[in-house]
Amino acid sequence: MNEINEQAVKERLNGIFSEEVIECGKPIMQRFATLMAYYRCAIMEIETKFNVLNQEFSLALDRNPINSIKSRLKSIPSMRDKLSRRGLQMSVDSIEQNLNDVAGVRVICSFPDDVYMLAEALLKQDDITLVERKDYIQSPKPNGYRSLHLIVTVPIFLAHEKRLMKVEIQLRTIAMDSWASLEHQLRYKKDYEFDEYMAQELLRCAELSAELDSRMDALREIVQREE
Ligand code: GTP
Ligand code: MG
Repeated sequence: MNEINEQAVKERLNGIFSEEVIECGKPIMQRFATLMAYYRCAIMEIETKFNVLNQEFSLALDRNPINSIKSRLKSIPSMRDKLSRRGLQMSVDSIEQNLNDVAGVRVICSFPDDVYMLAEALLKQDDITLVERKDYIQSPKPNGYRSLHLIVTVPIFLAHEKRLMKVEIQLRTIAMDSWASLEHQLRYKKDYEFDEYMAQELLRCAELSAELDSRMDALREIVQREE
């Protein structure tokens, strides 16, 4: 997770701007730091909800439906690039209004069935509101990418107010996650343009990973049925 080190930021700004300009920017920096703190709280809320569900289901099923959870705050350059690609200005309000994925939680599940079970259990909770759902497992992306994406709002309770924060949740199996992370590494390899062969091979790997998931899920069903 990205931490904003205020001292380091100040030192870098000192080399570029006058003391006066830095003073003017302080309230904005303060609002930005506060907003990021709220997103961090929202991540904690969502992580806790999944940890609670994992506890409950692991008692009932005798196995853990969640393999691991990885969370992150979007970096400042990524926020700036995304806003500028959409022709929007970079400001504290604009970040909150226009970006759905400042707070991101990735839940790596054991089996495909667990993805849907956990998503359903989360969405049933009365403080969670679904903003958007994209099922790239039912309908994979053309390159083969699979995951279930949810944008939700979750309340965070501060001393004097309740604030609804948006969080992007990606639920996927271990196989989906390993494909996505390797594809990401290959795609961002410097000085390499993907050709048709690479694209076809990645799609084939995604199909193999989907087959692995469905065969493992079938085994899980047999084991669960016998219990
Ligand atoms: P963007 O964040 O601009 O992509 O917005 P979007 O509305 O297109 O969201 P989408 O749900 O398609 O994807 C959001 C996130 O899912 C990305 O930031 C990645 O983390 C992940 N993702 C989507 N497509 C791919 C893909 O083809 N490969 C990998 N490795 N990850 C992907
Ligand atoms: Mg996208």
